[in-house]
Amino acid sequence: SILEMEVEQINKGNFEHYMQKEIHEQPESLTTTMRGRLLRGGSCKAKTVLLGGLKDHLKTIRRSRRIVFIGCGTSYNAALAARPILEELSGIPVTMEIASDLLDRQGPIYREDTAVFVSQSGETADTLSALDYALENGALCVGITNTVGSAIARKTHCGVHINAGAEIGVASTKAYTSQIVVMAMLALAIGGDTISNQARREAIIDGLFDLPNKVREVLKLDQVMKDLAKQLIAEQSLLVFGRRYNYATALEGALKVKEVALMHSEGILAGEMKHGPLALVDENLPIFVIATHDACFSKQQSVIQQLHARKGRLIVMCSKGEAASVCPEEWESCRVIEVPQLEDCLQPVVNIVPLQLLAYHLTVLRGFNVDQPRNLAKSVTTQ
Ligand code: G6P
Repeated sequence: SILEMEVEQINKGNFEHYMQKEIHEQPESLTTTMRGRLLRGGSCKAKTVLLGGLKDHLKTIRRSRRIVFIGCGTSYNAALAARPILEELSGIPVTMEIASDLLDRQGPIYREDTAVFVSQSGETADTLSALDYALENGALCVGITNTVGSAIARKTHCGVHINAGAEIGVASTKAYTSQIVVMAMLALAIGGDTISNQARREAIIDGLFDLPNKVREVLKLDQVMKDLAKQLIAEQSLLVFGRRYNYATALEGALKVKEVALMHSEGILAGEMKHGPLALVDENLPIFVIATHDACFSKQQSVIQQLHARKGRLIVMCSKGEAASVCPEEWESCRVIEVPQLEDCLQPVVNIVPLQLLAYHLTVLRGFNVDQPRNLAKSVTTQ
């Protein structure tokens, strides 16, 4: 009806699509996610994290033998982005499970495990079944959802709401970045304060406070990503290379391009390049390499050189000011996208934004439905 159409336009504000609106509101959704949870105390009080929904269970979580992340789609990717920082700060092994695969295998889950269920909707059928399975096996079950009162929020023992606000676009964007932030805060909460990790913890907390500004800055690449989309409009395929914290960025960036722009795209762990993907490289296939500055930077530089040596058509994301160290000027075919740098474990929150913008613009330019991609649903409630 006309009324429904008008309400929809009001909800979208100045944006043409929900996905576009949700990409651009990330500085605000991230702020809401962190509100009241990060404390930068006075002179004698250290910087800390307070997650109300977890505080009675932190001791049990710290004693667990393993933490298992369980989710589907974008929520799984968000957990993958947070895995390294959770391992680093907690010292507990962290394993990853796609909900359907855990169920297919009836994989072992023990009483000594903490199972963390990540779901924007809190209603995804496979994630919910995996939760029932973990409960039967006696694991402590933690929920990370965006939907208060959802099945996953109700059935888990404890949890954290991501508070990103309603997400309407079928392709998840702002929920992804808020999920990563919640899991980084979870890592800080589980890790606890020790002298040896104090500087690292404080750097992460400072980084979290600064994150909305960094995301505001990276959103200025909108036009740059639109121009890139114009160049890629007729391509059949796009590879996205990442590693460590940004392996998840590669998977999630490729997922966005695939699900909304209806273009084949594959996220590739850069360390696996020589075990197959290198065979695909030629002068036609576009390859997006994430090479922002962190401890793996020199390895990524070498990946870029090897792709270039095989005439790869490169698009490289690097940290501001480092363009020349990823793509020497004499390489004519290389395109560089510079993004603001921040604490390594938070970098995926910034790095996914240009890829979200790219997927969005590719979709509009190719004339496909942005908010309701072909054959997909926002919430998959059947198995
Ligand atoms: C569907 C949606 C995705 C989402 C996935 C998991 O596939 O289209 O955007 O990532 O479900 O949903 P959840 O609500 O559990 O995060």
